[in-house]
Amino acid sequence: MAKRLFVKTYGCQMNVYDSARMADVLAPLGYASAESAEDADMVILNTCHIREKAAEKVFSELGRMRKLQTAKAEAGSRMILAVAGCVAQAEGAEILRRAPFVDIVLGPQTYHRLPEMVAQAARAGGAVLDTEFPPEPKFDFLPESRAEGTSAFLSVQEGCDKFCTFCVVPYTRGAEYSRPAAAVLAEARALASQGVRELTLLGQNVNGWRHDDGWTLGRLIREVAAIDGIERIRYTTSHPRDMDDELIAAHAELPELMPFLHLPVQSGSDRILQAMNRGHDRDTYLRLTEKLKAAQPDLALSSDFITGFPGETDQDFADTMALIREVGFVQTYSFKYSPRPGTPAALMPDQVPEKVKEERLAQVQALLLEQTMAFNQSCVGREMKVLLDRPGRHAGQLVGRSPYMQPVHVKAAAPLIGTVARLRIVKVHPNSLEAVTA
Ligand code: SAH
Ligand code: SF4
Ligand code: F3S
Repeated sequence: MAKRLFVKTYGCQMNVYDSARMADVLAPLGYASAESAEDADMVILNTCHIREKAAEKVFSELGRMRKLQTAKAEAGSRMILAVAGCVAQAEGAEILRRAPFVDIVLGPQTYHRLPEMVAQAARAGGAVLDTEFPPEPKFDFLPESRAEGTSAFLSVQEGCDKFCTFCVVPYTRGAEYSRPAAAVLAEARALASQGVRELTLLGQNVNGWRHDDGWTLGRLIREVAAIDGIERIRYTTSHPRDMDDELIAAHAELPELMPFLHLPVQSGSDRILQAMNRGHDRDTYLRLTEKLKAAQPDLALSSDFITGFPGETDQDFADTMALIREVGFVQTYSFKYSPRPGTPAALMPDQVPEKVKEERLAQVQALLLEQTMAFNQSCVGREMKVLLDRPGRHAGQLVGRSPYMQPVHVKAAAPLIGTVARLRIVKVHPNSLEAVTA
């Protein structure tokens, strides 16, 4: 009988990719995807540990899952409950202590072993915990990716050696690892042959990707761009320290490489950047963005910011606001600093009061909203290539994404789904752009 799997994903795009791959791993065991946890024989919570709130969500969701599990048991069937991802990696034992009804706890580096874990859990006899960093990279054991739709993620790099003082990722994901180019290209070809037109190359430090022969990410992107069917390429998340000339040149030379780059800077103050151990200062970042814009004049930048890092003064924060204006970011993700267990910043003196963190966050977000709206407005009248990937809400309408990830809707015929169309932007709506065929 067909079994049903429901995966709930928290956190970053790497987790989205991992969730899809876990479903791929379990498909040969007969697991098809379920619409909701209520319909599932197995539920995986793929978790994120980046901020306190994210981690706490998992424990409240586990409470809800327990009720479903009990209801299933009373009806004479069983629901296997697994916790995967970064909370599992960081707090595996704690999860089993606080939620002993969990059947499987697995880290981001062991999910190729899920079939064995499921078999073990099915034999009952207590929970299975596998949060090792096994010597064999999981990618060597995964089945072929199954594509859904025309845009897909592809992990090329994992882990982080940067150790920013606020961040848990180096502890939850382990050391930097680059997948071999041949494996990446084979997966890209397989996805293209299933109809994928846009690939987003993923890594916690994606531009830290290195190949034994000295290739860097710019070269890998060139090879991906040469694959038949791949029309658009993105990559995320990059670190300013790993942005090399080959990658910058790729922005100048490859029409497939989208002119939109997420390049987190976190703060505009040199003092804070140093305390964060970012390994670059404000000026280096500014010069880097200038170089990128010189290579690709259409480039738009996005970033992440943390407000209220320990020791952040009004002046430091003013430097951040000034940097946001100077670079002209068109999008950002911003967060209040959240002290994480085991990270150096959590123990630093001069922790900033919650209220100050919140006020500064609100200011960053208000400024960014202004800049995003101004950018959207500047798109009116421009021609853009839009990957139309689904029907819109209204009849005869299709929706897709601009090169800058803006949702765009247009009156167009259904056969255009899955194609890149040249459109002219005519109007800005609160959450989307309206276009006509150019
Ligand atoms: N590898 C990426 C981002 C990883 S985490 C990079 O280096 O930029 C995604 C974002 O979460 C970070 O860019 C940072 O802005 C935010 N973040 C990480 N740890 C945080 C913490 N302790 N408190 C608040 N925000 C945090
Ligand atoms: Fe975290 Fe810094 Fe590594 Fe990004 S570079 S994952 S912020 S430690
Ligand atoms: Fe979260 Fe882990 Fe990604 S902590 S942001 S899911 S790498």
